[in-house]
Amino acid sequence: LAETEAPRDASRAGHDVLVTAGPTREPIDPARVLTNPSTGTMGYALAEAAAARGASVTLVTGPTALSPPPDVEVVSVETAEEMNEAVQARRTDADYVFMAAAVADYTPAAPSPSKRKKTDTDDDLVLHLRRTPDILKTLGQHKQPQQVLVGFALETDDATQNARKKLNEKNLDWIAVNNLRDEGAGFGPTNRVTLLGRNGTPQELPLMPKAQVAEALLDRILAARQEETS
Ligand code: C5P
Repeated sequence: LAETEAPRDASRAGHDVLVTAGPTREPIDPARVLTNPSTGTMGYALAEAAAARGASVTLVTGPTALSPPPDVEVVSVETAEEMNEAVQARRTDADYVFMAAAVADYTPAAPSPSKRKKTDTDDDLVLHLRRTPDILKTLGQHKQPQQVLVGFALETDDATQNARKKLNEKNLDWIAVNNLRDEGAGFGPTNRVTLLGRNGTPQELPLMPKAQVAEALLDRILAARQEETS
């Protein structure tokens, strides 16, 4: 995984990249789901940028409207549980993991096998939800030597402080945080992220299209790795 565009070189170590993207979709019944507005753009941009730099890239993606990026192995999943299985099965081979998916934190505890009917007697409906596995935290607990784990955090309040807490709790190397209250950050085509590492001061990147955010994240994360290993 070179810092600039380079032809693929299978003999070079450190170039297996696992990226997750998009929302997950949790079934309530055969006709309804719980999901979120993630478009997958950030994860697809990272996968494409890493592949263009010569990495061998696997993209585990929830349902999105995006075309598969060139030269990337795409694994399509629906639920958080399926994403967890796909990611954990591939974790030992990954030198870098970018966990950009917006994974549902809760899923219906007992999805109905047939379509639920509305009733005339009840104005309220209570759905019983249970926690999904925290995929990234599990990766952090099994982190391979030399593996670089990158998380993403969407925050609305105390963004940097919360992101620092997640970095520590999930045993991450980096976390890219964006504040949903910032204009242009979050679910749209652009993003304004702050990159936090284990050490050093937070790096605030400007508002830019997600493809450029992807390049900037790769530049910084790779440069830090090269400094560490040289
Ligand atoms: O704790 P929070 O959900 O804000 O953390 C965000 C990071 O954790 C993201 O990188 C997201 O992909 C990941 N995550 C996960 N599994 C979950 C929830 C979040 O891997 N169940």
